[in-house]
Amino acid sequence: VAVPLPHPRWRLPVLGDLLGVSPDHQIEHAVRLARQLGPIYVRKIFNQTVVFVSGPGLAAELVDEKRFAKHVAPTIVALRPLIGDGLFTAYNDEPNLHAAYQVLTPAFSQAAMRGYHATMVQVIRELLDRWDAGAESDVVSDMTKLTLEIIGRTGFGYSFDSFDRPTPHPFVAAMIRSLVYAQRSMFRPPVIGRLTGWRADRRNRADIAYLNAVVDEVVRTRGRDGDGDDMLALMLRSPLDEVNIRHQIITFLAGGHETTASMLSFALHSLSTHPDVLARARAEVDAVCGAGDPAFEHVGKLRYVRRIVDESLRLWPTAPAFAREARADTTLGDGLRLRRGEWVLVLTAALQRDPGVWGVDADEFNPDHFAPEAAKRRPKHAFMPFGTGMRACIGRQFAVHEGVLALAMLIRRYDLRPRPGYRLRVRELLTLKPEGLFLTPERR
Ligand code: HEM
Repeated sequence: VAVPLPHPRWRLPVLGDLLGVSPDHQIEHAVRLARQLGPIYVRKIFNQTVVFVSGPGLAAELVDEKRFAKHVAPTIVALRPLIGDGLFTAYNDEPNLHAAYQVLTPAFSQAAMRGYHATMVQVIRELLDRWDAGAESDVVSDMTKLTLEIIGRTGFGYSFDSFDRPTPHPFVAAMIRSLVYAQRSMFRPPVIGRLTGWRADRRNRADIAYLNAVVDEVVRTRGRDGDGDDMLALMLRSPLDEVNIRHQIITFLAGGHETTASMLSFALHSLSTHPDVLARARAEVDAVCGAGDPAFEHVGKLRYVRRIVDESLRLWPTAPAFAREARADTTLGDGLRLRRGEWVLVLTAALQRDPGVWGVDADEFNPDHFAPEAAKRRPKHAFMPFGTGMRACIGRQFAVHEGVLALAMLIRRYDLRPRPGYRLRVRELLTLKPEGLFLTPERR
């Protein structure tokens, strides 16, 4: 990094710019700094220098796949003990990355979504059965059950029996602990951290063993011959080796439910505080779907519900940043020289709230930010909740289809009553999620 970039004011020896940052509020802090320091700034975390980018002009350069590629950033490297060379954590030149694309791409085609649709509807109906009782919902817990069940059954033909449990399956708790462990391990001071963290290390080894055991059970349930054409069958019939298949299964079970559950939770929170938006969306669902369950073809026609999904992901991109590395020596923006392999972090959580792009109401929930005329006026790369380029989210259509369908079926049936006085608090556990969110579904 050759030019001096803005950085936080108080820089300490050894710790660098960690003053006042809690590991649980990294993103909130980074967004605040973007507002103070501008579209590009630098932070020192121990001996690591990280450049944060949140301006649309710079983002437009970084999405150019000829100049930049995904960087497997330290937060992602920290997940490799768990998911090794699975799709999300693989380095760009790892052989299994390309093999896995060949095997798994068909599982995310439009035809595949059509195949998953009936199962998605079935799982959502099971949630409706629970909600019909009218009890207050622990929203993140319920959305986690819903999305884990959907990815489990559509991708792997495996049910976690989520709705028969008071809290989500223990797989979820082990996965979250493991992700948090990975995230925190980055903020451990070098030598002392290793000495004080042995208890967490031991717990993490047990969690990883448990997650692997769940995956082995998923595979055993199917049998090695891999009938069918879901994600598991495609992998079992492929040349991917057993260890890699394990990595992919955890990647898909984890990545396939966490972010989507959080997205749905934020959306439901916003709908509970914006009954006008809910009413408009409900009118659309009634007009498009009629009285029965939404058909596959209906989902693409629910344009306003889709805007609610997009608007939720704009305000709370549940995977709030991604890293890009220079493919060759280059200069970013007005003179930030990057050598080949050097990288910067695109902070979507700040980019997607830039008032210069989104207007004075950039912090407000307003699905019309995605009305066609507004979208036309906006710079192209101001909205990237699914990342960009070759390594953008493979599950994007899956998440959008599931999200639109679930919201449609929920708002058609219920009004959502918030707890009096609830104010949104955002929790960061690798992904963003609302904290302490409870809603009471009331039959329409
Ligand atoms: C990659 C976000 C849902 C599987 C990514 C990336 C982002 C993202 C930002 C790029 C990360 C990077 O550049 O380092 C989201 C969000 C979701 C979601 C916000 C929901 C709202 C899903 C679902 C699945 C999935 C449902 C699977 C069923 C993956 C995988 C990758 C990925 C495997 C790695 C792709 C690659 O590197 O080739 N996701 N995702 N995601 N996502 Fe998602």
